[in-house]
Amino acid sequence: MKTLLIVFHSRTGGARQMAEAAVRGAAGEGVRVRLLPAVLAQAEDVLGADGYIFATPENLASLAGEMKEFFDRTYYAVLERLNGRPYAMLICAGSDGENAARQIRRIATGWRLRLVADPVIVCTHAQTPEAILAPKVIGPAELGRCHDIGAALAAGMASGIF
Ligand SMILES: Cc1cc2nc3c(=O)[nH]c(=O)nc-3n(C[C@H](O)[C@H](O)[C@H](O)COP(=O)(O)O)c2cc1C
Repeated sequence: MKTLLIVFHSRTGGARQMAEAAVRGAAGEGVRVRLLPAVLAQAEDVLGADGYIFATPENLASLAGEMKEFFDRTYYAVLERLNGRPYAMLICAGSDGENAARQIRRIATGWRLRLVADPVIVCTHAQTPEAILAPKVIGPAELGRCHDIGAALAAGMASGIF
């Protein structure tokens, strides 16, 4: 059975809810699903998977530092050993998210991963310090998009399309 690895970081809960929705979508589609916080994910976890979802906030016009640290820590240990594997990404942002998506795309291109779905970018519209620091609740429509990405990636992996 193939393994879908979902690596996430979340400070106020938004990206975590998005990652968990993708897990629910992938469940029952014929793959093993692993959900790992970025700070715990190791090169062996990356190598041991057949497809990936990266879920992160955008912070300071960048992917979150903890997610970047995951890539920094594992990048060269697995380079040239992931070629062609499928991936998707989920970005939780206050108002933008495009830079985080662009950065993940560049990293994943280096790994020769294959992006198999448009990035899901969810904007929480948090603008003030209070709103940015508050716990996030992602709405059902947005969670549905994350659920569908998980389901599509898992189904494609299980059937051999990816
Ligand atoms: C230090 C910091 C910087 C941020 N910078 C951005 C940014 O550049 N662009 C953006 O769209 N949102 C930005 N945000 C908003 C977060 O992306 C938003 O709060 C998101 O919900 C965080 O995801 P999380 O709930 O999974 O932690 C920033 C938040 C923090 C704490």
